[in-house]
Amino acid sequence: MILSRLSSCCLLSLSAACLASSVAGGYKAGTDFVTTDTHILSALRDADGGSVSAADFAEKFGVARAELCSRIENLRGLGYEIETSPHLGYKLTDSPDLLHAEDLIARLGKVKVIGRDIQVFEQTTSTNDVVEKLARDGVKEGVVVFAESQTKGRGRLGRVWMSPARKGLWFSVLLRPKLQPQEITQLTVAAAVAIWRAINRVTDLRPEIKWPNDILIRGKKVAGILTELSAEVDRVKHITLGVGVDVNLEANEFSAGLRKIATSLRIELGKPVLRAELATEILRELDRDYARVCAGKFSELADEWEEHCSTIGKQVIVGIGERRMRGRAESLDDDGALLLRTEHGRLERIIGGDVTLDK
Ligand code: BTN
Repeated sequence: MILSRLSSCCLLSLSAACLASSVAGGYKAGTDFVTTDTHILSALRDADGGSVSAADFAEKFGVARAELCSRIENLRGLGYEIETSPHLGYKLTDSPDLLHAEDLIARLGKVKVIGRDIQVFEQTTSTNDVVEKLARDGVKEGVVVFAESQTKGRGRLGRVWMSPARKGLWFSVLLRPKLQPQEITQLTVAAAVAIWRAINRVTDLRPEIKWPNDILIRGKKVAGILTELSAEVDRVKHITLGVGVDVNLEANEFSAGLRKIATSLRIELGKPVLRAELATEILRELDRDYARVCAGKFSELADEWEEHCSTIGKQVIVGIGERRMRGRAESLDDDGALLLRTEHGRLERIIGGDVTLDK
């Protein structure tokens, strides 16, 4: 099903695809569609270093012994280290640095909207393109599409987004919020806050947010958000929220130009980060923040955003197309717009554009 719709994408891990037996030719998982692999990985993780017996798997999830053995073998084939003890059962001792939809679902647990369906592709043009196609096919909101690499990853303002294989998190989320088009900056702000929290929780690093969508560490960009909108004059039809996080790139994997302005969590931390853990932290936070935005509680996020924002209080230059505006970034308004006190004393609401510090 997915393969035929998305011919430009290679689906990740054919062996895993075979396990998701009721999705013909595709590889998906979600809380709407929980596979046996998700049950197995959830139970092994919940055991927190302990073992789970075959009898437990049979009783809780109805997995017969022969099926369990074959699933465990498949998971081992993907790189999961699972020890077997004849008396105690199965124990998960290590996980590969791989984005495996069923594992992401197992790690994520229950969500309201974002992540109830997860798809992982080995390669796509851009995950935003894949989600855009799903949106046009009428898929319900909340689906998340990851790619291990993108051949045409894009950033804001038509920039190229470098997306090397297995080095980062490149994913997009389909949303259908009941918001006015001018309110969607709220979602970008919510995503920035969610990414901030997730990075902080997983790595202990304290990034800064540059309005509206850049996550920086020591002044260099580590993550970005590309929000693409399909709307009528007064109604959002759907939104594709694309997120790119430079997780495990090493310095020599950035071009000389990018090295001056971009960094990765691995460079900043001095050690690699488990992408699946970071991915699920981001999705969990995003799910919570999306619920807040939809419930009209954006102001709860705005305060947190301002706390981490390196733009507020600074003299900045805002570029909107060919236009340049200088002024002081004062605060965020109720819609997520940046309030700029211009050099002429006017207060301008900025809903898009590029902000740089005015040195
Ligand atoms: C930016 O800061 O300019 C936004 C970068 C967004 C990159 C992500 S990677 C996943 C998704 N697919 C894309 O082509 N772009 C976004």
